[in-house]
Amino acid sequence: MMNICVIGTGYVGLVSGVCFSDIGNNVTCVDIDENKIENLKKGIIPIYEPGLDELVLKNIEENRLHFTTELQTAMNDAEVVIIAVGTPPKETGEADLRFVEAVARSIGKNLTDYKVIVTKSTVPVGTGKWIKGIIAEEAGHSNFDVASNPEFLREGSAIYDTMNMERAVIGVESDKAKDVLSNLHEPFQTNLVIADIETAEMIKYAANAFLATKISFINEIANICELVGADVTKVAEGMGHDNRIGKAFLSAGIGYGGSCFPKDTNALINIAENAGYNLKIVKDVENVNAQQRYRVYDKLVEALNGDISGKRIAILGLAFKPNTDDMRAAPSIDIIPKLHSDGAEVLAYDPVAMKNAKKEIAGLQTVESYEQAVQDADAVIILTDWNEFKEMDLQDLKSKLRHPVMIDGRNMFPLEQMENLGFYYASIGRKT
Ligand code: UGA
Repeated sequence: MMNICVIGTGYVGLVSGVCFSDIGNNVTCVDIDENKIENLKKGIIPIYEPGLDELVLKNIEENRLHFTTELQTAMNDAEVVIIAVGTPPKETGEADLRFVEAVARSIGKNLTDYKVIVTKSTVPVGTGKWIKGIIAEEAGHSNFDVASNPEFLREGSAIYDTMNMERAVIGVESDKAKDVLSNLHEPFQTNLVIADIETAEMIKYAANAFLATKISFINEIANICELVGADVTKVAEGMGHDNRIGKAFLSAGIGYGGSCFPKDTNALINIAENAGYNLKIVKDVENVNAQQRYRVYDKLVEALNGDISGKRIAILGLAFKPNTDDMRAAPSIDIIPKLHSDGAEVLAYDPVAMKNAKKEIAGLQTVESYEQAVQDADAVIILTDWNEFKEMDLQDLKSKLRHPVMIDGRNMFPLEQMENLGFYYASIGRKT
């Protein structure tokens, strides 16, 4: 059992704090947002993540998880202090380290005895060393270690990903820090990758950029499949059985969104540029991704014979992926305004993201069910592969549509089924 202090109760901080407490540690989560902390004390969480609220409440009740706005109190008995504040992108694509710097200064001011200070936020290579300098300057001593322990959880399956982590990357400079962090991860019985701090920082960017590359790669293969009459889902299956390639992240569609891939690919391009290197592959990955989302728009225009003005279009799914209300870099943010500007009437439905979507998309009209969205629509477009859509009664859906046109950006249904039902069904990388 260890005493841990986690600074920042955003996605990463909250999920890691809760999971570290659930395996038996005594965890105090700190945030400057008083309102957030008051809510968290009651088990009210600021994000949508399946299972997270129950786990927060359980660990509060079992007295292992605490919330406070007082950094000094939280740090007092902690052996490990985890920095998990946001690193939003600047205009230039570089990560903004303002919050990390502020936290490092506060840690330095409150540092009285040896602690391992860990960065979990995704930060540019070299940040660990920079933080070390700041803390030492504020503390007036160097009785501490800095370390990097990047996070690999996915939104929507964050708890599962943390509890079943496939590896823990531990970037350290001393054996003492290595032992503390190895012990902390022991209960997860996972692969430990021990590296220096710069390498650990780089692993996070390389992993995300590689996954983004897989997605853009399969999307380009999908686009060729359409031209030559092949089926990308079978191509991906055939490729994926090769262990060297792997099955994951080969689902063609409308490209990646979210808070991580767009931000991290961009940041890596910047890191490379600052080091004097032109990261060509990742630049192309971004370009392919930026265009891929408009494939559904093009397919819609084709299905409706070139004119969507005055047509009613149902949009199913607004979030960047299922099981989240996160709208960051969601394809819907680009597609819906394009439909609006062409004079289409858009009615959208998403199981949880409608409230957030309204803040992002001007004039967005939403309804309370997918049935309402498709009623009398000239076409339906699927943008997010929610389970709820997988389970739709397609016969009934067809009877509600004015024209049986479905544009599926997520390849959710078998072609044969759609053909038998009599749909005009255009998906990605498959026959129409
Ligand atoms: C991603 C990584 O998967 C995590 O490992 C990482 O920790 C996280 O970023 C982060 O850096 O914090 P996340 O953004 O939550 O996690 O979402 P993913 O499930 O990876 O999906 C990202 C996007 O790729 C979604 O828009 C999804 O629809 C798209 N995607 C994913 C595809 O288009 N095809 C696929 O085959 C897989």
